[in-house]
Amino acid sequence: ALISMRQLLDHAAEYGYGIPAFNVNNLEQMRAIMEAADKTNSPVIVQASAGARKYAGSNFLRHMILAAIAEFPHIPVCMHQDHGTSPLICQRSIAMGFSSVMMDGSLMMDGKTPASYEYNVDVTRRTVEMAHACGVSVEGELGCLGSLETGQAGEEDGVGAEGTLSMEQMLTDPDEAADFVRQTNVDALAIACGTSHGAYKFTRPPTDDILAIDRIKAIHQRIPGTHLVMHGSSSVPQEWLAVINQFGGDMPETYGVPVEQIVEGIKFGVRKINIDTDLRLASTGAIRRFLAENPSEFDPRKYLQKSIDAMSAISAARYEAFGAAGQA
Ligand code: G3H
Ligand code: 13P
Ligand code: NA
Ligand code: ZN
Repeated sequence: ALISMRQLLDHAAEYGYGIPAFNVNNLEQMRAIMEAADKTNSPVIVQASAGARKYAGSNFLRHMILAAIAEFPHIPVCMHQDHGTSPLICQRSIAMGFSSVMMDGSLMMDGKTPASYEYNVDVTRRTVEMAHACGVSVEGELGCLGSLETGQAGEEDGVGAEGTLSMEQMLTDPDEAADFVRQTNVDALAIACGTSHGAYKFTRPPTDDILAIDRIKAIHQRIPGTHLVMHGSSSVPQEWLAVINQFGGDMPETYGVPVEQIVEGIKFGVRKINIDTDLRLASTGAIRRFLAENPSEFDPRKYLQKSIDAMSAISAARYEAFGAAGQA
């Protein structure tokens, strides 16, 4: 059944678990996520980025998610719009039937330039007024995502500030978070706590203090009724990087957020954990390997099935690790 993010995350807070929010662009990702959720009996959050809407088209994404709901009627599914850059974009998604939207007012409409606090409050408050009137949940964002190791915002062509960020920008301020929630009434708040988007988060194996867990704790204490969201939460599986590089790929050494540190964040109010890169890596690795080992195969279903299986295994592992398994 289609369900709002508020309902899903309220349940997650009550029972102390987190829900991975996977980005979807195509049928293979959608099937992988649903099969993993079905196998582990987990609630589902799938999210469509602006890039996904450009690639697949909003109508295809919407009907694909509705098809998943029809095929797995026992699994609660939240249809979420990722990183909306204006109230108007959020309004369009709400009109299309999305049950949740993110208004990312931490950045200007270009998705790159850090916005003023006043701008962020204004666009987020307006989105919440509109969304709540339709029973739709809203995620806001305060702070700029950036790696505490490199000071970089992450992927070049994706969502995120440009260039090097200051420590102050990369850690959401607890008092400001409290004021932001009071003024906007958001259901969930994406915070900056040391993660960044994309595959290049850390250049060295991360130490066990690579995330600002104390900051997550402090924010949660100030706004216990607001669900915290961790973007840039891919773990960048080393085994998939190795497969990619073994079968014709060329990716430099890189590391993601250890699953154990995300689990630590879940103890202190993190309820929605955004993951895109990990499924991309698994999909690419599985396809590269299959095509290298089966050079005469040309039926896309053969290698896309490998992509589904690889993405489904990662999804199931995250449902289990975050405690979402068994909660559907
Ligand atoms: O927020 C970033 C997500 O990974 C979406 O990336 O804009 O390339 O679809 P995308
Ligand atoms: P990753 O790039 O770490 O998978 O993060 C995805 C994300 O935050 C989508 O909003
Ligand atoms: Na989001
Ligand atoms: Zn994000």
